[in-house]
Amino acid sequence: MNHLKHVAIIMDGNGRWGLKFKNSRNAGHKAGLNTVEKIIKETIKNKIKFLTLFAFSTENWKRPKKEINYLFTLLENFLINRIEELHNKNIKLKILGSKKFSSKLNSLLKLAEKKTSKNTKLQINLALNYGSKSELINAFKKMKKNKTYINEKNLNKNLQTKNIPDPDLLIRTGNTKRLSNFLLWQLAYSEIFFEKKLWPSFNEIDYKKIIKEFKTIKRNFGKI
Ligand code: IPE
Ligand code: IPE
Ligand code: MG
Repeated sequence: MNHLKHVAIIMDGNGRWGLKFKNSRNAGHKAGLNTVEKIIKETIKNKIKFLTLFAFSTENWKRPKKEINYLFTLLENFLINRIEELHNKNIKLKILGSKKFSSKLNSLLKLAEKKTSKNTKLQINLALNYGSKSELINAFKKMKKNKTYINEKNLNKNLQTKNIPDPDLLIRTGNTKRLSNFLLWQLAYSEIFFEKKLWPSFNEIDYKKIIKEFKTIKRNFGKI
């Protein structure tokens, strides 16, 4: 049986769900937050140590301002209302991506990371303004500047995911089969599950089914 240490999720389909059921994309983002809570609980139950959630890509800035502002207000409120609870549950929060938001959100994020930095039950990596291509380019630039020898180990050390094992499992909801610039290097050997359901309709039962199936997969890593 495969050990499951790190799950990464592309939480896609909020907008379509919102339009379908509430006639508003933003309502879908709000509903998506409930799924986040369910999945965090189930991740802890399954003793998984790392959960990486793709919340906002470097390309998502191309969306209408109204939607972007709504998303960041949701996140601000989540941090204000829930960080204490996450901390009490011994959860560590880490942000992947560059913190180029309002000064209010930047400081809330920094505070949340600092407050939870010693926690050990589960590490949640929130990919926010994250793009894998820019992460890789920045890593190579740093290595060039420091005259670091280029090999796999040193590249890993210069990525934002340093000290985080590669995802064993990637789930993308929302019935779309692409990576959308997410963890391109780190997903090299991940098992990938594309889920038809939109993120707000995805639940712990769907998640458990995927975990169960993941455990039975023969992972070769090139061997036979
Ligand atoms: C994913 O849901 C969440 C974000 C990108 C912030 P979408 O908003 O992409 O939902 P769809 O794909 O348009 O339905
Ligand atoms: C990927 O979803 C990004 C997040 C889930 C945050 P998108 O909806 O932005 O992806 P594309 O644009 O359809 O590939
Ligand atoms: Mg989408």
